Amino acid sequence: MENNKKKGLEIEFHMTGGTGKTSYAKNSSLQKKASDEAKHITLETVQELYKATSPKSLGLADLGCSSGPNTLSTIRDIIEAVEAVHRDTTSSQPSPEFCVFLNDLPRNDFNSIFKALPEFHRELKRDRNGGSPPVFIAAYPGSFYGRLFPDNTLHFVYSSYSLHWLSKVPPAIYDEQGKSMNKGCIYICSSSPEVVSKAYYDQFKEDFSLFLQCRSKELVSGGRMVLILLGREGPGHIDRGNSFFWELLSRTVADLVAPGETEEEKLDSYDVHFYAPTAAEIEGEVIKEGSFELDRLEMLEVDRQTGDNAIGYGKTVAKTVRAIQESMLSQHFGEEILDKLFESYGRLVDEEVAKEDIRPITLVVVLRKL
Ligand SMILES: C[S@@+](CC[C@H](N)C(=O)[O-])C[C@H]1O[C@@H](n2cnc3c(N)ncnc32)[C@H](O)[C@@H]1O
Repeated sequence: MENNKKKGLEIEFHMTGGTGKTSYAKNSSLQKKASDEAKHITLETVQELYKATSPKSLGLADLGCSSGPNTLSTIRDIIEAVEAVHRDTTSSQPSPEFCVFLNDLPRNDFNSIFKALPEFHRELKRDRNGGSPPVFIAAYPGSFYGRLFPDNTLHFVYSSYSLHWLSKVPPAIYDEQGKSMNKGCIYICSSSPEVVSKAYYDQFKEDFSLFLQCRSKELVSGGRMVLILLGREGPGHIDRGNSFFWELLSRTVADLVAPGETEEEKLDSYDVHFYAPTAAEIEGEVIKEGSFELDRLEMLEVDRQTGDNAIGYGKTVAKTVRAIQESMLSQHFGEEILDKLFESYGRLVDEEVAKEDIRPITLVVVLRKL
């Protein structure tokens, strides 16, 4: 059975594009709610940066921008926040121009973003009675675990709900025959051997350090990053946090095994390239890499009542996870299992939440380039 370790994630992993009912654009309200809860930190950081540096041309990057309403809404808020500082402090100077670099993996639906740009520019103008600042928007497809931009081009890097995705499934979870040692699970779960959690942590350290090294070249000195990502509270992985949602997905797939809709081996060979770090793990890598000062690190627990009220929490989670995982799951298990899988998954999430709360943790990290 082929596992999903050798496939090129850069080619295969993508959120469901377009605007259909399973698209990321239609199923990203949980991410929107969470990044809204961190918005004051994002905007305060960009304002501090602008006050400290007042560049004529401000380079902004959104790493893992995806497509849909979330993509341009934060950019709009950032532009407004900078304009407000400009008005209060340096209004005798012309308003800064904004160079916005949108990054995601190559299979991202960049076309949907491009199609939304005329309306985005029209709104900017309309909100300012025709006097919009110059805003130049470009797409930079590629992995953020590598260089994306020329030296010293960025002042501000924003990344929301993207950095918990690793560059690959950790190779060390496979034995010499290439079989996953994480049997019956798709992420670190209660039955995972220790070698699996160590492999995931090692992969996180390698990836996050590379991310910092690359961004340190691209950001100007004093530039800031706001990174919003899923994380965990304490050193253990087995809690009712983010890993629990994967455990429930494993259980749902396993249930489909019994009626013969998929094979058990297929579940064993499916593992996600995801890692929810702790605050201390992030801080450790920032200190070790050495190019950034950690200005702020906050933990948010996003309100569970954020599900779409009309359909309930379980269904909202199921639709969200489907929009994110559909590309990978359908290649591995076949498209035909998806409807049933996510219907059962939504029900299981509701059942579990009724027993005891699930508490997904979000970390908000603010870094300053030294
Ligand atoms: C859940 S979406 C978040 C999108 C958006 N930032 C939001 O808050 O709604 C995560 C995005 O990260 C992207 N991503 C994951 N790994 C990446 C990588 N190595 N380089 C660039 N983008 C990546 C995915 O393709 C996906 O579009």
